[in-house]
Amino acid sequence: MSARVLVIDDEEALRVSVAKIVSRLGHSVDTAGNATEGLARLAKQPYELVLTDFRLPDLDGLEVIERARQLRPEAEIVLFTGFGSIPLARRLRQQLDDRPDTPLGRIIGQSESIRAVLRVVEQVAPSTATVLIEGPSGTGKELVADALHALSPRRDRPLVKVNCSAIPETLLEAELFGHEKGAFTGALARKDGRFARADGGTLFLDEIGTLGLPIQAKLLRTLQDGTFEPLGSTRTLQSDCRIIAATNTDLGQAVKEGLFREDLYYRLNVIRIAMPPLKERPDDIPLLLGHFLAHHAARNSRSIDGFDAGALNALRAYDWPGNVRELSHAVERAVVLATGRTITRECLPEAIRQAAGPEPVPLPDSQIIAVPVGTPLDDVEKLVIAETLRHTGGNKAQAASLLGISARTIYRKQAPGDAEIE
Ligand SMILES: Nc1ncnc2c1ncn2[C@@H]1O[C@H](COP(=O)(O)OP(=O)(O)OP(=O)(O)O)[C@@H](O)[C@H]1O
Ligand SMILES: [Mg+2]
Repeated sequence: MSARVLVIDDEEALRVSVAKIVSRLGHSVDTAGNATEGLARLAKQPYELVLTDFRLPDLDGLEVIERARQLRPEAEIVLFTGFGSIPLARRLRQQLDDRPDTPLGRIIGQSESIRAVLRVVEQVAPSTATVLIEGPSGTGKELVADALHALSPRRDRPLVKVNCSAIPETLLEAELFGHEKGAFTGALARKDGRFARADGGTLFLDEIGTLGLPIQAKLLRTLQDGTFEPLGSTRTLQSDCRIIAATNTDLGQAVKEGLFREDLYYRLNVIRIAMPPLKERPDDIPLLLGHFLAHHAARNSRSIDGFDAGALNALRAYDWPGNVRELSHAVERAVVLATGRTITRECLPEAIRQAAGPEPVPLPDSQIIAVPVGTPLDDVEKLVIAETLRHTGGNKAQAASLLGISARTIYRKQAPGDAEIE
């Protein structure tokens, strides 16, 4: 049986020879020189087999697998690596096995607030209702948009993303609606806009709070009746796309301040999903740490077992203004800096290290005392007090503070007889 095969590799020689072998075996084969091109091909054609290099210039192998699985869950994906290490391949295998490969499974979290988000995503994904995702930076808004598309009946059609803040206002209209040749200086050829490209699929309007008022008016019209005119054209076109919008600003407030059209706000705000900041769901921190540790350790070919107590304390105490994105970066940095198999507090960025207060100064081994099992507690107390006093050079106030008791108690415990005389 002949299969459709896609080969993704940035090294031309390798790509060509793999393609030759595959085609000699009687299969039809296409090639791509990077992940973006490969995934674009995969979105268009149902390949049965994808052969991809692990190290590509634009995306790493794990991400390619993840996205390819999203696009074509039925395709077989084979990863090969010029770095040819079997331990790496084993780790990848393990990681992929552990990895939840459903769109919802990619959103890690067990807190009630994340579960509530997942329930809404599951419930509204099959519909064409417009969704507005609100939440601070790095909380997973784009991840939710991906899941909404992947769980919708439009999953085989494109998910087109527009970052409204990244495109200058003057170009945004042409980007969204397309333009004719010569519509403006530099418009050398006719070009489809994002609405046209998202036809039948989903259009993700990211950072929608940054749109200026004139373009808000045009957008409203298209959202209302699905029609638009490319720049420089008299034709009216139609696009059937599902709209998902995201913002990290408070749109309701922007409406009050006259910066955002109220009618557009209501048009977008049909289903609202609010992404909770990480500091409001500390239960998710250990899970996310585990997830990103596995991810970054595999990516960097490192064997790291976990975090020590000092690192965990700091990671739990920190308030994560950059949310999950910041956490992922902190773990990646720690994985790279770790010298042993555990991540210690020294591997964390300064701001996080400080979150749990100063690290206790470890006592040298010579100052550790061993107490035989069964020693009466009174004697244990006396021994610890005596040794602590030796450690502080006889300074009772310092010893008392180390032991968390008052100086008076030291006197009393050390020599009960004296205390009675006192
Ligand atoms: N719950 C989560 N589970 C796993 N990964 C997550 C989660 N939330 C966010 N991430 C990861 O954190 C990074 C940031 O997420 P995303 O881009 O979706 O955030 P965002 O809310 O769109 O941020 P911004 O407002 O800055 O664009 C991504 O790499 C994403 O995969
Ligand atoms: Mg985003």
